[in-house]
Amino acid sequence: MPDIESLLKEKRVFKPDPAAARAANWNRKTVDAHRRLGERDPQRFWAKMAREHVSWFSPWKKVLVWKPPFAKWFVGGKTNVSYNCLDRHLEGEHGWRRNKAAIIWEGEPGDQRVLTFGQLHREVCKFANVLKSQGVKKGDRVAIYMPMIPELAIAMLACTRIGAPHSVVFGGFSAEALRERINDVGAKLVVTADGGYRRGEAYALKPAVDEALRGCKGVESVVMVQRTGQPTNFVAGRDRWWHELMEDASADCKPAKLDAEHPLFVLYTSGSTGKPKGILHTTGGYLTHVTTTSKAIFDLKEDDTYWCTADCGWITGHSYVVYGILANGATTLMYEGVPTHPGPDRFWDIIERHRVSIFYTAPTAIRTFIRLGDEHPKKHDLSSLRLLGTVGEPINPEAWMWYHRVIGGKRCPIVDTWWQTETGGIAITPLPGAVATKPGSATLPFPGIDAEVLGEDGEPVEPPNGGLLVLRKPWPGMLRGIWGDPKRYREQYWSKFPKTYFAGDGAHRDGDGYFWIMGRVDDVMNISGHRIGTMEVESALVSHDEVAEAAVIGRDDEITGTAIVAFVTPKGNATPSDALKVALRNHVTRQIGAIAKPKEIRFTDALPKTRSGKIMRRLLRDIAAGREQVGDTSTLEDYSVLAKLRDSDEG
Ligand code: WT7
Repeated sequence: MPDIESLLKEKRVFKPDPAAARAANWNRKTVDAHRRLGERDPQRFWAKMAREHVSWFSPWKKVLVWKPPFAKWFVGGKTNVSYNCLDRHLEGEHGWRRNKAAIIWEGEPGDQRVLTFGQLHREVCKFANVLKSQGVKKGDRVAIYMPMIPELAIAMLACTRIGAPHSVVFGGFSAEALRERINDVGAKLVVTADGGYRRGEAYALKPAVDEALRGCKGVESVVMVQRTGQPTNFVAGRDRWWHELMEDASADCKPAKLDAEHPLFVLYTSGSTGKPKGILHTTGGYLTHVTTTSKAIFDLKEDDTYWCTADCGWITGHSYVVYGILANGATTLMYEGVPTHPGPDRFWDIIERHRVSIFYTAPTAIRTFIRLGDEHPKKHDLSSLRLLGTVGEPINPEAWMWYHRVIGGKRCPIVDTWWQTETGGIAITPLPGAVATKPGSATLPFPGIDAEVLGEDGEPVEPPNGGLLVLRKPWPGMLRGIWGDPKRYREQYWSKFPKTYFAGDGAHRDGDGYFWIMGRVDDVMNISGHRIGTMEVESALVSHDEVAEAAVIGRDDEITGTAIVAFVTPKGNATPSDALKVALRNHVTRQIGAIAKPKEIRFTDALPKTRSGKIMRRLLRDIAAGREQVGDTSTLEDYSVLAKLRDSDEG
């Protein structure tokens, strides 16, 4: 009996366009050579990448010191992240980038700002001096709690310039969540704003900071950007305005020569239970990983306008809005607001107006757009796009096909990138010039990454059976630990198999060695002794014409032990009915087999999701079991969804 059974059969293959493949930063030959070296000698491969993609003040003495589960990369080497993202584009060979756009920013109300590399460098140096003037020294932690405005990237880069690890807390988190993170990381200073714009309204951020800091001793000062101009509480002696401090700040600030293992940032990620984990990333290895992957996977060229829709409160915003992109001297677009304001076509409008060429977003956003209807993207000229990406959840093959057809105009390669807060950078992914894609598959490990699918016995499973996704060798962007909790780090990630990183995801490989992520192993359902992942059943539902999104969970059942309950969001033009329920159950049976046929289907117009867009199946399990008291909901995006879901069995 396999650990997880694979039922989905997806046969479509999309080969790289030959002309585009020839022009790619990494063509077939490069990729083959990198893969060979990455397999034979991963340390040599990563050392080569570190030399090619990162500028160092002094070379390392040892590529890797590996005392499982603790890794040190590029030991003895010295570098600086802000130097790599800024200074090196102002001098020497690439000095002409001084007047190239580094950040193109658009606020939700429609205001715009462009910062060239020269201007961004100046702002970052000034803010680094502000931090120093507020008593922040190398090693001190800075919490950042801001809307998606340029000052957020400036604050992050300024921290890296002086070696003060930052901890960005997503602006949608509550005061309670903010306090917990500030205390855990021991922040000395908080950078925030009066508020920001979302769904057409100004929301306030500062009150949450005030509340979080009540009774918190470590934080000495708060620096506040004036974004909305709303009336704001001001604590004398503690709070200062960003613009006032910046007025007097010098634009002269040398980047600190930091050890490759100097802490770069701590980013909190919530597991399904327990207190959030402060994931620690360090300087040289992380920078090598994100810079190399950005160049190779997004195929960044000098004239690209790259847009990743993630907020800097998540790892995607760190690695692929700011650091990996700017380190390549590429132009990154930042957008403050929601995708549906003032209308459901805001994203497509942005792509058209800024001539975005590379677009990186999440499956949850794609499924939302599918539900809203094709007419919105079709109103806009999307011909500037040449490459699309997705991250965050498994993308259902039909959602992939929609993205390919409606957004990509059938000409753009799609990179479905698997990674985690913990991996720091992309780990499994297509390379657009070299790897044929299959809808729903993240394809192959990046060169130098040793991914495998293991059974409970620790042996690789036979394709096409599923098992546990692991990384068997250390990689430069890997987390260095959980802040202040080495024991939890060991138990959480390294205790399942010896010297092997267990990611918590289920996956299977096909005959070509391609990886198919099947969802979190905590969500796997045991139906009459068959272990079935959520992704495949959901993909079968989404492949029905009238379905935009689906989430499945297991509920206790007297006969089968567990029965599948499906929560289904129909497309905008579809009508939920008993007939549709019957049709969907039959559809799943035809697509993947009777074993996966949902016992119960509930229609809903929204699923419970985290603010980063992940479906919270744990809450759906509570609801399906009729439990009144659902578990921890502090990361839920929209509370009203729960009440609606409770009623959904009537509908
Ligand atoms: C989890 C990590 C990585 C940045 C954003 C999320 C899921 C991520 C994919 C993908 C299938 C994916 C996994 C993973 N995930 N990318 N391409 N296909 N699943 O970071 O919040 O740390 O979440 O997201 O379950 O473990 P994160």
